[in-house]
Amino acid sequence: MCGIVGIVGKNARDIILNGLTNLEYRGYDSAGIYLNDLKGKEYLTKAVGRIKDLKEKMTPDEQGLVGIGHTRWATHGKPTVENAHPQFDETNRFYLVHNGVIENYRELKEKYLADVNFKSETDTEVIVQLISKIVRSEKLDTFTAFKKTLGLIKGSYAILLVDNTNPAHIFIAKNKSPLMLGLGDGFNVIASDALSVLDQTKTFVDLQDGEVGDITKDSYTIETLAGKKVTPKPYTLDIDPKVASKGTYEFYMLKEIEEQPAVIRRIAQKYLDKDGQPLVEPQIIDAISQADRIYIFAAGTSYHAGLVGKALFEEYTGIPTEVGYASEAGYHFPMMSKRPFMIFLSQSGETADSRVVLQQATKMHVPTLTITNVMGSTLSREADYTMLLDAGPEIAVASTKAYTAQIALQAVLAKALGEKIGSQKAKDFNLRKDLALAAEGIQEIVDGKEKLEKIAKKYLVKSRNAFYIGRGIDYAVALEAALKLKEVSYIQTEGFAAAELKHGTISLIEKGTPVIALINDPVTADLTRGNVEEVESRGANVVTIVSKKLAKKGDDIVLPNINYYLSPLLTVIPTQLLGYYASKDKGLDVDKPRNLAKSVTVE
Ligand code: G6P
Repeated sequence: MCGIVGIVGKNARDIILNGLTNLEYRGYDSAGIYLNDLKGKEYLTKAVGRIKDLKEKMTPDEQGLVGIGHTRWATHGKPTVENAHPQFDETNRFYLVHNGVIENYRELKEKYLADVNFKSETDTEVIVQLISKIVRSEKLDTFTAFKKTLGLIKGSYAILLVDNTNPAHIFIAKNKSPLMLGLGDGFNVIASDALSVLDQTKTFVDLQDGEVGDITKDSYTIETLAGKKVTPKPYTLDIDPKVASKGTYEFYMLKEIEEQPAVIRRIAQKYLDKDGQPLVEPQIIDAISQADRIYIFAAGTSYHAGLVGKALFEEYTGIPTEVGYASEAGYHFPMMSKRPFMIFLSQSGETADSRVVLQQATKMHVPTLTITNVMGSTLSREADYTMLLDAGPEIAVASTKAYTAQIALQAVLAKALGEKIGSQKAKDFNLRKDLALAAEGIQEIVDGKEKLEKIAKKYLVKSRNAFYIGRGIDYAVALEAALKLKEVSYIQTEGFAAAELKHGTISLIEKGTPVIALINDPVTADLTRGNVEEVESRGANVVTIVSKKLAKKGDDIVLPNINYYLSPLLTVIPTQLLGYYASKDKGLDVDKPRNLAKSVTVE
């Protein structure tokens, strides 16, 4: 979602524009930058559209030693120049960027700012106008007025503030939205995502909720809103900035699809010993083994990975497992069993909907585990336990490698847990071999990707709608496959339990409707083929994706054989590629589909 980059002590323009470009993948619809050269000159430029549109509006003399920049994903007010950040106050003294949502901005506006002439429709402008008002009416210094303002605000925020009467400082605050401080030699940088500034520093300090800071080029102080000083320990983020670059790929999505064999191998290496025994923290296994039911909460693609997790946990541990959308559970909390255990699946570790459920679970003393790709992310900090996917930065908005990594890691957990509670199936589960087969199989599918490009061109690119069908675990993959195709290509796609089609939806099938059938379940393969005939006889263009042992003459994509419970690791790959090619061939921005954000930090 929105991105923030600020810097004090160095050529701010390039660093901010680069940083914001690195954050583009998160999704945004306008951008802005404020620069101050510390000699009395300041510049504010904002643009609707992309960073390149912002750059085009900037003149070469717009430089500064202090600056704050922002990419905005509209929540309150349309994507316009006025609504883009930085927002500023009526005296043109304070400039502020903000990620998050201020829930009580209307009340604050009415109560304290009735006489102010607002220029934007944003909740953010209320913050900056309020700071200004408090400074003037109460004769307070900026930092004190900032803290006082934050005390009045309800909601989520990561904020950077510059006062042009004292511009060598950036004041910062965090609550529920990510914000970190990067430490440099003679400069300090502040960002909503470390990835955006990795070329500047690898040493970071995380801010916690309710903390504020005063940052200069060679100092920083952080304290709680109540004024208690805190001294967080700096840590080094050991990520190669190149990992987050596209290299020779046209789009990150293809790069990330192709990284999946390596991701699966890395998980096998990290989480299994040389005899194939799972290496999971014993406390995690002990805690889950006490549970009479596992609850998985997630959003989007992670939710779909949770559906596969359910099958894995139930098969290898015998513990009943439920999967829910975090956004639904947050305010309609499910009825719990006597000894529940909750797993949160989240690539980013920042999804606000999941956080609501996690906080509720913590209040109820339910033990929790976050499985995430981002070390130190909010969900990982707030859960009792964390397991890292180690899939490397996922930049394309459409999630691919995080999905397969989540399935692989849930398989590790299911095996470890099953063995602990004496499940024979878990003991016989040769995960090491299966993950090696999966990695090889993914490679084989990726190597044959031209065939998928042809199918996408022939059946999908010109189509208005499409269907994925499957039964059992293939149904779970059909849901993910449909999400992938629709989110990047804008072709309306539904994932369906194959047999359900005939109970209503089959009326949508007409000549040329693409129906992609996923067939990996030996128990229902023939039945699904029956459903394929039903749609074919009504004119559908059918594509079959079938595991080798169930394949028949005429099948389109034949997948290497693998354990049924891990078959999603292979089945999903052709569907990711179909989504990718459909989007690319339509000339769309594959990595940044319209209206979407990579990390959704609002409920
Ligand atoms: C957004 C992204 C999806 C992602 C979902 C959940 O909607 O666009 O790709 O699956 O959030 O994100 P998480 O980081 O919690 O897995």
